[in-house]
Amino acid sequence: MNEADRTKAGAAPILEVKDLRKEFRVHRGKAVVHAVDGISFSLMPGEILGLVGESGCGKTTTGKLVMKLAKPSSGRILFENEDCTTLDPEGLRLWRRRVQMIFQDPYASMNPHYRIRDVLEEPLLVHHVGRTRKERQEICAEVLEHVKLTPAEEYLDRHPHMLSGGQRQRVSTARTLVLNPKVIVADEPVSMIDLSTRAEILHLLRGIQKDLGISFIYITHDISTARYFTDRIAVMYLGRIVEIGSQDDVIDHPRHPYTQALIDAVCEPEPGRVGVKRFLRIKGEIPSAADVPKGCRFHPRCPYAIGTCALFPEPELEAGGGSAAGGSSAAGGEGPRHRVACRRWQEIRVADSPK
Ligand SMILES: Nc1ncnc2c1ncn2[C@@H]1O[C@H](COP(=O)(O)OP(=O)(O)OP(=O)(O)O)[C@@H](O)[C@H]1O
Ligand SMILES: [Mg+2]
Repeated sequence: MNEADRTKAGAAPILEVKDLRKEFRVHRGKAVVHAVDGISFSLMPGEILGLVGESGCGKTTTGKLVMKLAKPSSGRILFENEDCTTLDPEGLRLWRRRVQMIFQDPYASMNPHYRIRDVLEEPLLVHHVGRTRKERQEICAEVLEHVKLTPAEEYLDRHPHMLSGGQRQRVSTARTLVLNPKVIVADEPVSMIDLSTRAEILHLLRGIQKDLGISFIYITHDISTARYFTDRIAVMYLGRIVEIGSQDDVIDHPRHPYTQALIDAVCEPEPGRVGVKRFLRIKGEIPSAADVPKGCRFHPRCPYAIGTCALFPEPELEAGGGSAAGGSSAAGGEGPRHRVACRRWQEIRVADSPK
């Protein structure tokens, strides 16, 4: 068990999100987009939580709310049990040191005229970290070592365009580390990177999480990288979490028909069952968040929907079995480890073992 695992085992959550919502008024106020529609989750120290779902389900908005780049319409955000939903300018400055974000496009998030040493030094200057330039440059060189851009001197004077996509994402990661954060929100950090370098970057982030005990929220539409990189997975659909659990539970024993569909879309057919998918196909595309279906929001696409599903909203997340059959308690008292928001999950769980 490494340091991060030990921390995860008995600790209290570092970050908690409670019934968080974000609405956008569009079309001159005539329509409301429910981008994030009442989500709750905890993040443990040293844990990697994946937020997974199709385009438009609210992943980035959730990340921005956690980063405080957007204000929630309602709900609460707690850091180490302290309510940090609303912060004064000094509180916000401290927040920016605790919580950092890695963006999808590292190139767009860097000033192309800066050298890498300036890119890395900028947050230190803003936050008055390091008394002298020399001290700050030492921190910059150290973080470049963390992201395996060595020797640091070889990279410090380059400009972003002189780096490969993977190297730029390493610099972008290094920039989040200079302020010694507790939480990093990584929004699709590998989706714009060459396929061959993706695993390398995820491996690097895993190493950082292990060595420094930093917690990650890993945002992705790709459930297969979530399996490789996360400890727990929260599956989002139209602004809500529909299933959450350890990555083993969610991927090996998916309970929500939507999770099952996401897994089917990426999984290799089993040997001897060429081309046979494990679960029933879902229909159509994700509806607009400005027009959330009545009843269970997933019912128009759900192959298992019955009359009740069209009439009543999906239930709150409830214990959903998984490998622990009934769900054991999560560290930090978040309740049952594997939870699902589908009134029919017990009837459709037969899909779990098709042999
Ligand atoms: N500033 C905004 N104004 C209006 N609607 C917005 C705004 N930002 C996001 N939305 C809408 O909120 C919903 C959720 O968007 P979000 O960007 O969080 O999704 P996402 O899961 O990150 O998608 P993707 O995988 O494409 O990045 C979408 O319907 C989007 O169009
Ligand atoms: Mg996004």
